[in-house]
Amino acid sequence: MAPAPIRTAVFPVAGLGTRFLPATKAMPKEMLTVVDRPLIQYVYDEAKAAGVEKFIFVTGRGKAVIEDHFDIAYELEATLRERDKLDRLEEVHSAQPGAGAVSFTRQQEPLGLGHAVWCARELVGNEPFALLLPDVLVHSDPGCLAQMIDVYTDNGGGNVIAVEEVPEDQTHQYGVVEIDGEGDVFKVTGMVEKPPKGTAPSNLIITGRYILQPEIFDLLEKTEKGAGGEIQITDAMLAMMDSQVFHGLRFKGHTYDCGSKVGFLAANVAYALDRDDLAAPFHAELKRLLGL
Ligand code: G1P
Repeated sequence: MAPAPIRTAVFPVAGLGTRFLPATKAMPKEMLTVVDRPLIQYVYDEAKAAGVEKFIFVTGRGKAVIEDHFDIAYELEATLRERDKLDRLEEVHSAQPGAGAVSFTRQQEPLGLGHAVWCARELVGNEPFALLLPDVLVHSDPGCLAQMIDVYTDNGGGNVIAVEEVPEDQTHQYGVVEIDGEGDVFKVTGMVEKPPKGTAPSNLIITGRYILQPEIFDLLEKTEKGAGGEIQITDAMLAMMDSQVFHGLRFKGHTYDCGSKVGFLAANVAYALDRDDLAAPFHAELKRLLGL
């Protein structure tokens, strides 16, 4: 029997974004733009392209503009139509979810990623779901989540985590997996969140894309505070490994950690160079800046 389809995606967007102050004083970090689209739009598009139909955002105070971003801007649309800017209108339309496809709930206290995911339990219900962290952009075609859904389907369901290699001296900044097997798809046998330097079980880190079974919610409810004094999704997944299978996928594509300034700036360069309308003039400008 084919496993239950992945129809739902959860986007935790409650974080404060202190690394981008003052830009994020009055604006959510998820609304920072890469070229001309906010970060959250890229991860939404990735989920939509993978077949997701129900989009759940776990927000917090000061994040209401994310709700506006995914709403119809009636006056804007009327003005674009009046001025015959139909290509712009089409761009705005294609970025927008259909009626009733998005839901918002709030994480009232900053208790960690695991707690943010747990806040979505009623909206997700009793079915497997995708979890996408909007700080992480994966530049790939097909998208990272679509690649993961193939692994999920080929393996008859279960849980899937996107992983990638990083230099050993960086593993302490991430969740790190322990694996059994080789190649691009393998069984995950253990995981640890932000292991102290020199103790990581491998140099394969959790990238910020997950497919999870709904039993994770009961485990999250019981999960104690872990690394950084926060409730960690990694700890709940480790507990769930006693009863469920986790596959790791070394996906195809390049990751940009847009929670860091260098990653964010690099994403802007990479995505601009990938655009037909910008690649040539931007390339010339980059050469000038670099003195080439
Ligand atoms: C989170 C996860 C971590 C993962 C990382 C990817 O950490 O807890 O396992 O490796 O995202 O970016 P955070 O970046 O919220 O500290």
